[in-house]
Amino acid sequence: MKLAPSILSADFADLAAEVERVAAEADLLHVDVMDGHFVPNLTIGPPVVKSLRKRTDLFLDCHLMVDNPGVLLDDFAEAGADGITIHVELGDPTPLLARIRALDMRAGLVLSPPTPFEAVAPYLDRIDLLLVMSVNPGWGGQEFIPEVLTKVAAARRIVDERGLPVEIEIDGGINVETAPAATRAGVDILVAGSAIFHAENPLAAARRIREAGWPRSS
Ligand code: DX5
Ligand code: ZN
Repeated sequence: MKLAPSILSADFADLAAEVERVAAEADLLHVDVMDGHFVPNLTIGPPVVKSLRKRTDLFLDCHLMVDNPGVLLDDFAEAGADGITIHVELGDPTPLLARIRALDMRAGLVLSPPTPFEAVAPYLDRIDLLLVMSVNPGWGGQEFIPEVLTKVAAARRIVDERGLPVEIEIDGGINVETAPAATRAGVDILVAGSAIFHAENPLAAARRIREAGWPRSS
């Protein structure tokens, strides 16, 4: 039951203050790294993670939307990243996952909406985090794709059956309306960007998403 605000929708010129604003409701901080190739958009990398590290103790959950994550892993570790998530669409992730763990970071695997669950199934015993994208990667503020919840449910079933220490995270279009279906399907970590940082009161928005996802009565 964790909430990960995505700084993609925060004010990059005022990042430390933006993080501080939501820290009380954040379990992790989701950092979207885009290289202009894997996705057309271009964002931030290890230098910004290094700066963030000095300003927050939150778990820095780095989602790499890049063609060549291997060349960045050492730099992210040195910058103070806690977790690195790589896209399964790039091919066999085994060596990169091993490298991430060797650098003392948590290893995550992510699949885009068109990618079937079967693509990640062989690697579930080699990861700490499975990230299911519920929008096509590249931008914040897109509409939630509910069909991906079948993949969340499949992952939940296998993780539970096999007792695997894998957290299931969902990313894209999460807000108070979509959070309940995601957590019902078995999500452990909700990522939310625009629904938090574009709200008038980001901290209150984060609290509402958490309460929508995990109602107190249940
Ligand atoms: C999109 C990113 C997401 C993005 C989500 O490629 O991976 O993390 O920040 O933004 P929202 O919550 O606005 O859909
Ligand atoms: Zn992301």
